[in-house]
Amino acid sequence: MTYEKKLVIGLFGFGVVGEGIYRVLKQTPTLQAAIKRICIKHPDKKRNAPAELFTTDADLLLNDPEINVVVELIDDADAAWYIVSTSLGSGKAVVSANKKMIAAHLAELLQLQVDNRTSFLYEAAVCGSIPVIRNLEEYYDNDMLNSVTGIINGSTNYILTRMNEDGMAYDDALELAQELGFAETDPSLDVQGTDAANKLTIILNHAYGIISKPEDIMCKGITQLHPTDSVYAKEKGYSIKLVARANRVNHTDVAAYVLPTFVGPRSQLFNVRFEYNGVIIGTRLADEQFIYGKGAGRYPTSSAVLSDIAALRYGYKYEYKKARTGVNYQISTDHVLRIYVSCENMADINRLDFIAIDETYISQNRKYITGTISFDKLRKAAWLNNPDNSVIVFAEAGPAADHQLEELE
Ligand code: HSE
Repeated sequence: MTYEKKLVIGLFGFGVVGEGIYRVLKQTPTLQAAIKRICIKHPDKKRNAPAELFTTDADLLLNDPEINVVVELIDDADAAWYIVSTSLGSGKAVVSANKKMIAAHLAELLQLQVDNRTSFLYEAAVCGSIPVIRNLEEYYDNDMLNSVTGIINGSTNYILTRMNEDGMAYDDALELAQELGFAETDPSLDVQGTDAANKLTIILNHAYGIISKPEDIMCKGITQLHPTDSVYAKEKGYSIKLVARANRVNHTDVAAYVLPTFVGPRSQLFNVRFEYNGVIIGTRLADEQFIYGKGAGRYPTSSAVLSDIAALRYGYKYEYKKARTGVNYQISTDHVLRIYVSCENMADINRLDFIAIDETYISQNRKYITGTISFDKLRKAAWLNNPDNSVIVFAEAGPAADHQLEELE
């Protein structure tokens, strides 16, 4: 298909990614796309672009009929929702990287696209440079996927790598992740796992057609990890990663969570280090496939934004095909995890919550239990939220479960 549509862009935000895409577009003359105006919040900040491009008046872009593409790269999710919903409502195509806003308004955004028959693309919102959404939409559209498992937050992976490989202190590693432009403006979104839960909400939609809220996903970040957890991991040959996982537990139910996870050397995720992300797609037909790349940072994220802008030249839209498979997948809490819990005080952990306990270890420094627990019990356990306790999942329990799904004939 040839499509010579000239794209006139209104850009919202000129931060790490906004400035990145401005520079990238200047160096991509083959793309018939030009930024007409850039809306920013702080007019007094020095900007590396001609002053006449900038405005603080959002309506100047939203009401400009010549602007046919809005690229939204701000970090305020409420303002982003206004910009995106107004733009889609007036028939403009929109590219966004705002995972928090998209996850919070998924159902409304799906409806807006239907009502206005316009494109809303957001590859940059999930795993930076890795084309996860486009792959789920286009390549795996007819595969009833068994699982999607990944490291989908670059900042936490960067922090864990720095701490475990370089012995860096948590605060220093976080500061570095912020300086390098990986972390969210509010980095608690990264370290508490919320950013990964937002991304998993989006993945669940494109992988299984599930419309959920991030609050429906059990999520723990890396703030509760204790130095002795790394000692345990090293002794057993594991690496601790913040892993997001969605896996089909039967024909209609999908388990979904974001939890620190012991990853063994046979997993593709074992060698995903620094700000890189990696996603293992457990397919029904082709077994496992792995996609890997930078998950955060100016140019990796800009590359996904650029690809979305380029796709608008041929009117590309997500079709959300997984919502039309005839199967109404839902998030389930009826499955089992093998976990490790380390704590200050063993009396805190209700051992009766476990289906089976494999190991108990008590030293002056730290105590831990490993065992099997139902996901529902874990989710509701009061000890899970005690900052003195750290919970880590053993990854093996997952992939093995994938293979218990229906056999192909
Ligand atoms: N703060 C996010 C991360 C940025 O670290 O992954 C990319 O979404």
